[in-house]
Amino acid sequence: MGVLLNPPEGFAFTAADFAFIRQRIFALAGIRLLDHKDKLVYSRLSRRIRELGLHSFAQYCQLLERQPAEQTHFVNALTTNKTQFFREQHHFAFLAELAERHPAPLRLWSAACSTGEEPYSIAAQLVALGRHQDKVLATDLNTQVLAAAEAGLYDLGDAAAIPQAIRHSGFLKGKGAQAGWMKPRQAVRALVSFRRLNLMDDWPFREPFDVIFCRNVMIYFDKATQSKLLGRFRQHLRAGGYLLLGHAEGMDKGQPGYRSLGHTIWEAV
Ligand SMILES: C[S@@+](CC[C@H](N)C(=O)[O-])C[C@H]1O[C@@H](n2cnc3c(N)ncnc32)[C@H](O)[C@@H]1O
Repeated sequence: MGVLLNPPEGFAFTAADFAFIRQRIFALAGIRLLDHKDKLVYSRLSRRIRELGLHSFAQYCQLLERQPAEQTHFVNALTTNKTQFFREQHHFAFLAELAERHPAPLRLWSAACSTGEEPYSIAAQLVALGRHQDKVLATDLNTQVLAAAEAGLYDLGDAAAIPQAIRHSGFLKGKGAQAGWMKPRQAVRALVSFRRLNLMDDWPFREPFDVIFCRNVMIYFDKATQSKLLGRFRQHLRAGGYLLLGHAEGMDKGQPGYRSLGHTIWEAV
């Protein structure tokens, strides 16, 4: 296999390395890296290779084989964590409408929560409606983003995406050393618990959820994995519960157990 990339002062990265990395990230996280993602892999993993004092991707692949602990860094480096507060606003309008008619508590799951903007948006929306009994479980595979989510400190610039009334009821502006930052208020934090969970593994839930947000992660999985996941989400939703997917995600007409309500919202039937 030839060298794919070997920039000056960079690390040799061959087609064989890329093939190995694709196979490992698929096995570990269900993430399917397309052919053109070689440059992304190069830039994401070079940092780690430098940190480890290695000299090539081949050395890194060997280390990944030998040291299972490296898998966490590997997965952290290769997941894409882009998110924002109140992303896909129509889902929060739907949540507000649901909260008006549904007795507390609601049991919600933010199934790929990244750095926490999604679960804190859910919780802030609920708290703004006076709901303090609802529970939001927030999970992700990436340990780094989970640590950031638990810390819950955000650039004040991110607040622009939060509806103004909820910005005040749900978040606090930092002062002194925390000037320029904001954090969710205690009432919002209290609704959310974070936990590491790989969607590819078994899920330890006994009680069904009322609402599952699984947004902007299934795009990284292949069709078979997506369909299997949709079936598993259905098993963990109560009948009449809801699954909310990302804007570029959907489900085949033949997928059993759901009825589309439009706007990437599905009702469990
Ligand atoms: C693009 S972010 C989406 C965040 C948020 N749901 C949103 O829509 O703004 C995708 C998240 O999925 C997580 N992820 C990727 N593969 C996963 C897996 N197998 N299990 C759990 N989380 C995974 C990534 O770590 C990342 O934080």
